[in-house]
Amino acid sequence: MDRVALVTGSGRGIGRCIALKFAAHGYIVILNDITADSVAQVHEEILKTGGSSIIAAANVADPGEVENMVEHIVSQQGRIDVLVNNAGISPKQDGMKVPIDRMSVTEWQQVVNVNLNGAFYCARFVLPHMKKQRYGRIINMSSIAGQKYIDVSGAHYITTKTGINGLTRSLAGEMGQFGITTNSLAPGRIISDMMLAVPEEINWQILNSIPVREYGKPEDIAEAALFLASEDAGHINGAILPIDGGWTVT
Ligand SMILES: NC(=O)c1ccc[n+]([C@@H]2O[C@H](COP(=O)([O-])OP(=O)(O)OC[C@H]3O[C@@H](n4cnc5c(N)ncnc54)[C@H](O)[C@@H]3O)[C@@H](O)[C@H]2O)c1
Repeated sequence: MDRVALVTGSGRGIGRCIALKFAAHGYIVILNDITADSVAQVHEEILKTGGSSIIAAANVADPGEVENMVEHIVSQQGRIDVLVNNAGISPKQDGMKVPIDRMSVTEWQQVVNVNLNGAFYCARFVLPHMKKQRYGRIINMSSIAGQKYIDVSGAHYITTKTGINGLTRSLAGEMGQFGITTNSLAPGRIISDMMLAVPEEINWQILNSIPVREYGKPEDIAEAALFLASEDAGHINGAILPIDGGWTVT
């Protein structure tokens, strides 16, 4: 049986890399992003290499769109085995965070809606199907910003990534008995458009705080996601795995 994996925000960056990795390992990958155009190229790449993928555009911050997407996937594929809650935003102004005392309510709400509510909506609508299957793997994209104060990250971002870890613990505790495991990945500084939106000199300063003195690559995150999604990882539940070259421990 081919496993079906939904990867949100898979049009670029870390999500794209996870989608390609899963497809290369035989998953039927459901490519979600905010528009179909955003994932068209990834879809082409997967098809060219003999993999299977399906485009499922939806705004994860809209519960109605998420519910329709999940129902459509299950009606077409008959199941959903893996959810990677990867979609996320980290708004900046001129490459810098907006300090909390000047942050607009709208910006706060946008980040909470995408990063935290979006992950809940996706989990909420896949869970009935995973429960019926008595099998599921949920992987939530947290961040080092969920573990400690990071100067470069906005308060909304830090708050949502901390919340993601709470969601992970709740899902792990409540759903483990149904064969559904949930874990967080906590990347540090990973080369992507999100990371490159910050001025180079700030990324250089951060590099000096990372014990291995290297930025991470999307591939580093994708490898861990592939393992956590596997049947072999069934006894790992509720873990928050830093992938940050040791930055969390500094
Ligand atoms: N890059 C890093 O250094 C880093 C570090 C820690 C955590 N993360 C987390 O990893 C995840 C991926 O980050 P990235 O660096 O690849 O970011 P990115 O900005 O390069 O990619 C994010 C993707 O999510 C999509 N997306 C945004 N809002 C969406 C929505 N409402 N619905 C559906 N899709 C949406 C975007 O279109 C984009 O394709 C995020 O959750 C991010 O917070 C990244």
